[in-house]
Amino acid sequence: MRFENKVCWITGASSGIGKAVTLLLSQQNPKLILSARNQDKLEEVKRNIDPKVEVSILPLDLADDKEILHQKAKEAYAIYEKIDCIFHIGGISQRAGFEETSYDTFEQIFKVNFWGPLYLTKASLPYLRKVSNPIIVSINSVQGKFGVPERTAYSSSKHALLGFFDSLRAENVIPNLQITNILPGYVKTDLAKNALLGDGSTQGHLDEGKGGITVEKAAQDIVKAVTNGKSEVVIGRPREKMAVLIKRFLPKVFEKLVSSS
Ligand SMILES: NC(=O)c1ccc[n+]([C@@H]2O[C@H](COP(=O)([O-])OP(=O)(O)OC[C@H]3O[C@@H](n4cnc5c(N)ncnc54)[C@H](OP(=O)(O)O)[C@@H]3O)[C@@H](O)[C@H]2O)c1
Repeated sequence: MRFENKVCWITGASSGIGKAVTLLLSQQNPKLILSARNQDKLEEVKRNIDPKVEVSILPLDLADDKEILHQKAKEAYAIYEKIDCIFHIGGISQRAGFEETSYDTFEQIFKVNFWGPLYLTKASLPYLRKVSNPIIVSINSVQGKFGVPERTAYSSSKHALLGFFDSLRAENVIPNLQITNILPGYVKTDLAKNALLGDGSTQGHLDEGKGGITVEKAAQDIVKAVTNGKSEVVIGRPREKMAVLIKRFLPKVFEKLVSSS
């Protein structure tokens, strides 16, 4: 079992993909640190885990300043005096055109999706350097590869995140550091409900007729990709995997497919 006795720090563990990954990983008897803003929901996730598994709750807001998030990484390390794996899963989406999206909203999405994971990563590298097989997992999105309408902030934050982790991997800062970027298509979660409108309020409902894979399937594919040491994996329905290829090889066709007009 790849994660037995490994200390896995999971952000976004309170719901959706992060919760499903947490529950699946817990079957391998790791030591878990669960983070998100909502402490009650994290406690609820903990109650669903076999009591034999060590689970700690470390609430945090990914939109916080670098000093606060560096302190959170210190606190995470202090819990088991070790961090083997970080799963960056916390994130927030957008449902608004560029002109309707205030700068505050744009910046909030970047703080949560890009700067938060970046600060936690920088603060954790000294700890990851101490273990034999350190792993960073970043739950990105197919929208880290292409943009669609009403996602200018979301898509650009995920493009930036992908570039950041690819570049960090290339720097070889820790010789055997595994960095796995996961690019999901639609997964059935509350992401759309929690997505920000232009004024920073939440959409409050799911998108109509989008469907997607289940969180359980997403978690299985994520854990499999990480276990197999992959650098980048697209998960989701065939149409989303195909969309990445169409954007790559037939960009003009792709533009017509996603254009609003
Ligand atoms: N669902 C999809 O279709 C899909 C597709 C591609 C990529 N993704 C990515 O998958 C990841 C998880 O999303 P999900 O689909 O599982 O949606 P979700 O159910 O809305 O979960 C989002 C998670 O992020 C946490 N979060 C949000 N804002 C935060 C903040 N400011 N500080 C700390 N944690 C915060 C939430 O916890 P709290 O509210 O408790 O803070 C929650 O645990 C995201 O990065 C998303 O971009 C999802």
